[in-house]
Order: sequence, then structure tokens, then C-alpha cells
Amino acid sequence: HTQRRTISKQRFLTEFSQCLVDFVIQLLPTPEELAVKENVRGLLERLIRTIEPDSRLLSFGSTANGFSLRNSDMDLCCLIDSEERLNACDLVTMLGDLLERETKFHVKSLPHARIPIVKLSLDASPGLPFGIACDIGFENRLALENTRLLMCYAMIDPARVRTMVLFLKVWCKRRKINSPYKGTLSSYGYVLLVIFFLVHVKNPPVLPNLQQMPPLRPISPEESTLNGHNIWFFDDISLLRQRWQSSNTESVAELLVDFFRYYSREFSYNTGVVSIRAGLLRKDGKGWSSEADRGTARERNRLCIEDPFETDFNVARCVTRDGLYTIRGELMRASRILLSRPDRAILALSQLCE
Ligand code: CTP
Ligand code: MG
Repeated sequence: HTQRRTISKQRFLTEFSQCLVDFVIQLLPTPEELAVKENVRGLLERLIRTIEPDSRLLSFGSTANGFSLRNSDMDLCCLIDSEERLNACDLVTMLGDLLERETKFHVKSLPHARIPIVKLSLDASPGLPFGIACDIGFENRLALENTRLLMCYAMIDPARVRTMVLFLKVWCKRRKINSPYKGTLSSYGYVLLVIFFLVHVKNPPVLPNLQQMPPLRPISPEESTLNGHNIWFFDDISLLRQRWQSSNTESVAELLVDFFRYYSREFSYNTGVVSIRAGLLRKDGKGWSSEADRGTARERNRLCIEDPFETDFNVARCVTRDGLYTIRGELMRASRILLSRPDRAILALSQLCE
């Protein structure tokens, strides 16, 4: 009987891994979509240069880190290389006016937001069945660096890392637990949860800790510091692949089952801080104890995920008590579905993302 159970578990995991890969592949952006987005970026860059000739417009977020799904939004960052530049607030206002005059985009400028941005959208059309949504921010160099860090992690083991991350992104969107504005977690937060799990929870680890590897040559503080934050990480991935290989051979299905188990039953939400830089930390050690703001309208530290570079920033600070309750309920639901191992793996997948 035990032997038969082991065989059926193995068969489920093998089938489920294949299902995950097939499922994720059909959700990747098409080459046409990527080309349209690159055209849009180029067009916007040319327009911005009529205001600030020394500016560059760069992609960050999912379009640049290898974790993009079909129709995901575009995150763009404008860098200005000259010393004398307009402040972000004026630039946002001027750019918003210009784009409204010169393009078909719907434009919304938020010059007074904590991070001033211009929000653009384009309606659906036959060539672009889902339209485009795009945010342009300014001088957000840390976001460009954390995008590069995530991209490097994706490149080390694309078959497992990208499949897991892309699946979880679809899962959290379908289960409606991916809205920081409504008290749940951003995609960026979910990606950090996955990387933490693969670097610090799995033993042997699936990924190395790129921020703690010894550099190949001495790095000066100027090179490694941005806005007062240490942004160094080992980024020579082709060399890394020659020198480092994970001895973890679990399949993507096994990893996913264990991911849901860990975050639904093992991780201590009351005391723990997820840090991909330093491993599991404690809230009290960072001054992030949720006791401090319990009972206040805005609770910032229910769920704690340390930003890889801005280490005093909790990426999950938008997660409310109710939001965390919902997220944990969803993690438990997913874990339960996978442990029940329905007859056919495809059923597990469709139940998970119902
Ligand atoms: N970001 C950040 N700090 C946050 C949230 C986001 O620095 N608290 C930056 C990161 O560089 C991240 C990017 O903004 O890669 C985009 O974040 P998000 O939209 O959450 O992630 P995407 O991977 O773009 O996911 P989606 O496809 O759902 O848009
Ligand atoms: Mg995005």
C-alpha cells in the first residue's frame, strides 16, 4: 500500500511539473507584443528628449527581469544624465501635457505623489487586443538595480525559477491577492518570497545568495553604493554557471508544493522577516515589530519583506491585517489542493487558479 502511494505521488509530481511548464509557456508575451512595447518605449523616449535632451528611458519591472506575462504593464524609468535638470514634479507635469497633445495615450500625471509618475494607457485595438498600460517614473535607479538582481536570479536556473515565479504571479492575480492598494502584496513582493525560499529555505539551496558571494576583484565603495545603499551583487552569471551548481534536484512541482507548505505552515508571520540578502531575520531586530502599530489605522509590519538594497524598507508594508489573513488563507488552500493530489495533475492546476 505504501509503495503504491509513493508511486502515485511520484506520478502526480512528474505530471504536475509538465503541466506547469505547458501552462506558463502559453502565457508568455508574444514576440509581437514585445516588439510593440519596445516601439512604444522608443517613441516615448524621443518625445521626452524634446524636453530633456540628455534623458534615457529604460524598462524595469517584469518587462526587464524575465518574469513578464502576456499583457503585463510596462514600468519605465527616465534617467537624466545632465547636471542641470528639471525637478521630477515639473518634468511630470510638462511630459504629461506633451503626451496628451502629441499621442493617443490616455494620460494621468501625478506630479505630487511620493514618487512622481506619469500614467499612460492605450485602448485595445485589433493589433493590440489588450491595450497597453505604462507608468513612467524618474531617477528610480534602485528599481533598475533590483530589476537586474531579479533578472540574474532568473537566469541562473530559468527552468525552475521562471516557471515557479510566473505560475505564482498568475495564481496570485487569479486569486485576487495581488493589489497593494487593497491591502495585499505586489508582484515584486511575491517574487522576493520565491527567491528567499529558493536561497534560504531549501536545503540544499536551489539558488546561491548573489549578494553574499565573494567579488572577483576588490569593489570600491563608490562602485557599490547608490543613494547610501549597498547595491553590489555577483552579476557575472555565465561565470557563475561554470563555478556553481545547485545540488538540489527537486522538480518545479516538488518546489511549488513545498513553497505553499512553508508559507502556510512554517514561516512565522508574527516574528519573521523575509530577507533575500541576509536570510530569515526577526522583526524586533529591525525595529519592525507589529506590536508597535497594532490598533492604528495603518499597520505597516504585518508581513515583513526586506527590500534587497533599501534594507530599511518593508516591501510588504501595504499588506493589512485582513489582506494577510486572505493571503494566508489562499496559501493554505493551495497547499491543501496539492497535498490532496487529484487524479489528474491538470485538475490541480485549474483548481489552484480558479
Ligand atoms: N518596485 C520596487 N519596490 C516596490 C515595488 C516595486 O522597487 N515596493 C519596483 C521593482 O523594480 C519591481 C518593479 O517596481 O521589479 C515592478 O513592480 P511590480 O509591478 O510589483 O512587479 P512586476 O514584476 O512588474 O509585476 P507585474 O507583471 O504584475 O506588473
Ligand atoms: Mg509591473
